[in-house]
Amino acid sequence: MPTVSATSLAPLALHGGPRAKTTPYKSAPRFDANELRELQEALAQGTLFYASGQKTKDFCARFAARYGVRHAIPCSSGTAALHIALGACEIKPGDEVITAPITDMGTLSAILLCGALPVFADLDPHTYTLDPAAVAEKISPRTAAILPVHLTGAPCAMDALRELAARHDLWLVEDCAQAYLTEYKRQLCGTLGDLGCFSLNDFKHIGAGDGGVVLTNDDALAARARLFSDKAYDRSGGAHNPAFIAPNYRLTELQAAVGLAQLAKLDGIVAARRRYGERLHRGLESIAGLRPQRFVEGGRGSFWFYMLRVDEAVLGPAGAFVEALKAEGVNASAGYIDRPVYLYDLFVNRRGFGGSGFPFDLAPHLRYEAGLCPRAEAILRDAVRVTVRESFDDEDLEQTLWGFRKVAAHFAAQRA
Ligand SMILES: Cc1ncc(COP(=O)(O)O)c(C=O)c1O
Repeated sequence: MPTVSATSLAPLALHGGPRAKTTPYKSAPRFDANELRELQEALAQGTLFYASGQKTKDFCARFAARYGVRHAIPCSSGTAALHIALGACEIKPGDEVITAPITDMGTLSAILLCGALPVFADLDPHTYTLDPAAVAEKISPRTAAILPVHLTGAPCAMDALRELAARHDLWLVEDCAQAYLTEYKRQLCGTLGDLGCFSLNDFKHIGAGDGGVVLTNDDALAARARLFSDKAYDRSGGAHNPAFIAPNYRLTELQAAVGLAQLAKLDGIVAARRRYGERLHRGLESIAGLRPQRFVEGGRGSFWFYMLRVDEAVLGPAGAFVEALKAEGVNASAGYIDRPVYLYDLFVNRRGFGGSGFPFDLAPHLRYEAGLCPRAEAILRDAVRVTVRESFDDEDLEQTLWGFRKVAAHFAAQRA
């Protein structure tokens, strides 16, 4: 492997030099005989309905046991999990839910489907998670909940957010879609708020095609969450008599079967991603001009992906930097989403249910416009996203770091 001092001489792949990544990133099949066996068992039951079969029950029991919580409620997606959690908290039209400006649309759909309004608080420039001071500034008499997103699998500053929620009597709902086994001060994210929400979509640490889970230790919240996930039908027996409006967000036995096999692999998946991610992080830290992601005190990420920032004063625009990395064969891409979520059309045009202004008309004081969260906007301008997979090995790591060193040395020299 060439030394760092030789990097300035190494020609970029962009200019016809040899690529840093000389071998393909290692991949491994995601599903195997274990998923197949679980699926066969699910089919053999003769029912795929979660309330009649055993797979969903087992999946939830094991999920709850791994997290050390009393209740794991199954559902059809991470978005559904978040909507169920907010529904269990009885979030109502016109309520405000403080959340992050860099997240998946599912976080926002869940809020809007309650008729509530997302209020965006700015992020910490280094951890890319909610800045508690910015959250505090956004709390109003209309605020009902705080919804932190553990972006990339990095934990939010949960002590400060819990303190704020307790002081202002707000619900705290954690979005853990990207954050399986993420730790905060040796506790698992998803157990630190009132409810924790997970996704089993095809791209997450573990997947079942689609699916979701809501965690809580609160019996009353759990009971409402269960009802909210299934048309407000009480599946414990007796006549149906829905007492509130609720969607059908049921998980099927097929998804739970795959989920069971995936859950058995979760610790290994996260351990492998951590091994790779933590070494990638240390390697990137030593490269001038790169600003690797930081974790909050006591935080341990689970590396759904890795994000860092480029100091444009040292290395020039992040976009050109990423193009050079890609030419080297490094699995990097620019930014994360192409704009902060509050600049999506539905917010800018305040287009709500059925094309009406609901729920935006309930909150004329809320503006969704550029400049709302300047630190999040800056992150998206100069961020670099690097893929992490549990199958990546030492060679992948070394070649990736070599690509970063080579490109950084070249770009730094150009600007010197
Ligand atoms: C942070 C975050 N929240 C919510 C979701 C929604 O999950 P799902 O796609 O399962 O609805 C995702 C999925 O990408 C996510 O990354």
